[in-house]
Amino acid sequence: MRAIPLARVGVRPPSEIGAAVIGSGFIGTVHVEALRRLGVPVHGILGSSPDRAAQRARQLGLPRGYGSLAELLADDRVEIVHVTSPNHLHHPQVLEILEAGRHVVCEKPLAMTADESAELVECAARSGKVNAVNFNIRFYPLNQHAHELVASGELGDVRLVTGRYFQDWLLLETDWNWRLEPDRGGALRAVGDIGSHWLDLATFITGQRITSVMADLATFIPTRRQPSGPVETFSTERSTETVERQIATEDTAAILIRFENGARGSVAISQLSPGRKNSLQYEVDGSSAAAFWDSEQPDQLWIGHRDRPNEILIRNPALMGPAGQAAAALPAGHVEGFADTFRALFRAIYADVGNGGPTENPGYPTFAEGHDEMLVNDAVAASARDGRWTDVARAPIARPMVAAGEDGR
Ligand SMILES: NC(=O)c1ccc[n+]([C@@H]2O[C@H](COP(=O)([O-])OP(=O)(O)OC[C@H]3O[C@@H](n4cnc5c(N)ncnc54)[C@H](O)[C@@H]3O)[C@@H](O)[C@H]2O)c1
Repeated sequence: MRAIPLARVGVRPPSEIGAAVIGSGFIGTVHVEALRRLGVPVHGILGSSPDRAAQRARQLGLPRGYGSLAELLADDRVEIVHVTSPNHLHHPQVLEILEAGRHVVCEKPLAMTADESAELVECAARSGKVNAVNFNIRFYPLNQHAHELVASGELGDVRLVTGRYFQDWLLLETDWNWRLEPDRGGALRAVGDIGSHWLDLATFITGQRITSVMADLATFIPTRRQPSGPVETFSTERSTETVERQIATEDTAAILIRFENGARGSVAISQLSPGRKNSLQYEVDGSSAAAFWDSEQPDQLWIGHRDRPNEILIRNPALMGPAGQAAAALPAGHVEGFADTFRALFRAIYADVGNGGPTENPGYPTFAEGHDEMLVNDAVAASARDGRWTDVARAPIARPMVAAGEDGR
């Protein structure tokens, strides 16, 4: 295994790289806080309206709320823009940002369709700018470590990859969010919103792309009650005035998977599993050992053996490989969680920004990988529609994923 690039700092450190954030909701706030931990000057925030941006800027202690994307891009101090707006805005906003010559970090899913994400890959490549997709779950230190375990052959040949991503915040017919509107969230909902994380993570951990899928999607709540006013993500407040809405997107998905090395897999995805707030689990069964991880116990990695006792690795920089070490911020026993993954991912991204552009094999998820995940989503949708196994339709021009162990991680 080669030395890892993740802990690199670019020629210019993060404290000299100006940023701005689009979106000030649930995840925009997490972006701002992670950037502050790295010492990045966040010059301002763009919201759904100038008033909202100004109000959120005050609440977050930021210098200003921008009135428009044009105003944000006219701020010469901003070298990189983080896009955390609802999904339908990713494509137009990222295009404008790249055309204005800025680096960009975009939330998942990268776009609404694979056609859109393909255009973003091309535009980013032409621009020569850093382009990253916020698949932050890769950056739990133990997931970086699991990637290294597989890459170094510790688990043997990967044979079976199973798991789930369950939440319960859309369990009731009165639960509402923009993700339920296909023109803002996309044609796939549970798969696009949270399944995208699991599918990306399975690919990252194993170093194997998904080649075909067999998917069964279900909508258990075909009619929901949309509140008349706006709703915060993960909000549990109930509105008294509601409008009935028909829902066509899936509440749950069950997907069988084939990987390019012949490994098999399955994942269940749900936004209405009572009690499961944010439970992503995976197990990778190899020919000599297995690894299991659960996002609700993120500092523990179970490692299974046939002929000796199983192990539980508690996250510990002293016991992990270089990538796991680079992603960790705290010593063992001082639990790291969701927000810490943003800091670790941004540190890797900002090293490239500090060097002026992406390295050949970036140590973070790029638009090419965000696009690949969109292609898997397309295959999931087509499989569910047609009721049969469906291959992931990769165009020959698509940049190949970096094989495990070849990217220096
Ligand atoms: N990586 C993760 O773990 C993770 C977690 C949650 C959400 N996300 C992604 O982040 C994005 C936002 O999700 P969220 O949960 O924060 O949603 P949210 O509804 O909490 O926040 C969205 C924000 O976008 C703003 N906005 C709306 N229209 C805008 C416009 N025209 N210009 C600028 N801002 C605008 C809203 O004011 C709001 O502040 C989605 O793409 C989602 O998939 C990623």
